[in-house]
Amino acid sequence: MLPTPDLSHLTKEDFIRVYEPAEDTFILLDGLENDAVELQNLDPKICLEIGSGSGCVSAFVGKLLGSSRCLYLTTDINPYASKCTVSTGKQNAVPIESITASLDSPLALRLRRNVDLLIFNPPYVPTSSEEADAAQESRGIGGSWAGGTDGMEITGLFLNNLPNLLSTNGRFYLVGVAVNNISAIHQNLRGLRLDGKVILHRRAGREHLYVMKFMRILTP
Ligand SMILES: C[S@@+](CC[C@H](N)C(=O)[O-])C[C@H]1O[C@@H](n2cnc3c(N)ncnc32)[C@H](O)[C@@H]1O
Repeated sequence: MLPTPDLSHLTKEDFIRVYEPAEDTFILLDGLENDAVELQNLDPKICLEIGSGSGCVSAFVGKLLGSSRCLYLTTDINPYASKCTVSTGKQNAVPIESITASLDSPLALRLRRNVDLLIFNPPYVPTSSEEADAAQESRGIGGSWAGGTDGMEITGLFLNNLPNLLSTNGRFYLVGVAVNNISAIHQNLRGLRLDGKVILHRRAGREHLYVMKFMRILTP
């Protein structure tokens, strides 16, 4: 079992501004670790994590896949998260290039169909659209969870661009909760010619967490 990355360099003050790894983070790490052999065989050259927060997930993937053969890129709207991501990379000897930006906005064109491993543990908690918009605008910790209607407003924006980002054999890992309507997410992505399955689910308090994995449907 691969240990959780060392986050001892991050302080209580950091976690006032940046999402502290929690059950959703850990189920994602477990899902990725269960797929370790598949991912190692895939031999990704570009890994992109959207919403990296503390950097825990990308540092974990760096340990899982090695840091010399793959470029680790992350985005987060929260500038403090970008800083923490870089320092977590350094702390765990995984070079991570972190960009403060919304979703894949500055990278979408350049990375077109080149992302081999794409990861998103999004803000998935249902809130009003106003709360989600305000959280996105303030770029603070509230953006870690405020997901708007059905908790899907931010994720939904991202999913539409997914087929443009993923490489031919690329894998996309997404965290969600039951209220996000997991089967509707699958149906929506099927319409974009991406096939998916739930690779892990777990109850955590009142939340029912899911890790989904998607890849392109390659047959005509
Ligand atoms: C649930 S937290 C997950 C953090 C980390 N990946 C983890 O698993 O512990 C969601 C993260 O997404 C970021 N986020 C929210 N909206 C975003 C957006 N539009 N673009 C990029 N990142 C965003 C938040 O700032 C937060 O760091």
